[in-house]
Amino acid sequence: MEPDIQTPFQKYASLIVIILVLLAGTFVYLYIATRNELKETSEEYFNTRTELEGNIANLQNKLATAESQNRGLQTALDIEKGRNDDFANTIQEIAGTVGVLEKLSKTDEELLQKYSKVYFLNEHYVPANLSQINPDNLYDESQDQYIHTQVLPLLENMIRDAAQEDITLYVRSAYRSFGTQTALKNGYKVTYGEGANTFSADQGFSEHQLGTTADFTTTGMNGALDGFDNTKAYSWLLDNAHKYGFTLSYPKGNAYYVFEPWHWRFVGKDLATFLFEEKKHFYDLDQRTIDTYLINIFD
Ligand code: DAL
Repeated sequence: MEPDIQTPFQKYASLIVIILVLLAGTFVYLYIATRNELKETSEEYFNTRTELEGNIANLQNKLATAESQNRGLQTALDIEKGRNDDFANTIQEIAGTVGVLEKLSKTDEELLQKYSKVYFLNEHYVPANLSQINPDNLYDESQDQYIHTQVLPLLENMIRDAAQEDITLYVRSAYRSFGTQTALKNGYKVTYGEGANTFSADQGFSEHQLGTTADFTTTGMNGALDGFDNTKAYSWLLDNAHKYGFTLSYPKGNAYYVFEPWHWRFVGKDLATFLFEEKKHFYDLDQRTIDTYLINIFD
């Protein structure tokens, strides 16, 4: 009997089969395990993604709500700011009105009253402040003359500017107290009788008591007033006095006195310019219109 001789293949066939089976088993096992793991990972990813998407949607909602609240707040803020601005404007208007009233309360309301037989100026009335006119500007340097302190610079500027155009203006008479006017009028009455009323105011009715009025003369007149209308000085005043706030009180044909070309009253630049441009005179206006210029009389 021949010995049972196995080829190397036959000898290891069983072993190889076992190894192959083991390898196949391992492979199948690894495949299934990996697939399961992948499945779990995939599910986990899906769940996480769903959760994140939920969170994002939630955050977007919150953002939209916050933006809407923000817009609401902005609108409320704008409304409040508008109210604040209105309030500030109202305060400013009130402050402006108070300022105007305060300025008006400090402005002497007598300064723009119509005197001249119309309105009586109390015998105790004296202008708030009087200043002495530079004697160089007086016709008679030996008789001091005074004028309202706030009118003085305008008067002196006017006289200086006129001089630069070779026009001489001398003040003959400026402020006159109630007592001075009484004495003056009484003197005229002795000489002229009732005729004095045509050129001289009774005490209490003279613009000179206000301290804002001046009578002018010029060179070559020996201090006279009559005939002033024939001088260059009068023509210059007609053209320029309004720039300094002065106006002619008694033009030809006025209702109160004879024509007084020498008598100029300070009424403030605004009113004097208005009268100049409108070719009107102070006594042509009603008191209500005149009063609107009081607050700016010294501006
Ligand atoms: N000459 C004017 C009218 C006065 O006396 O006031």
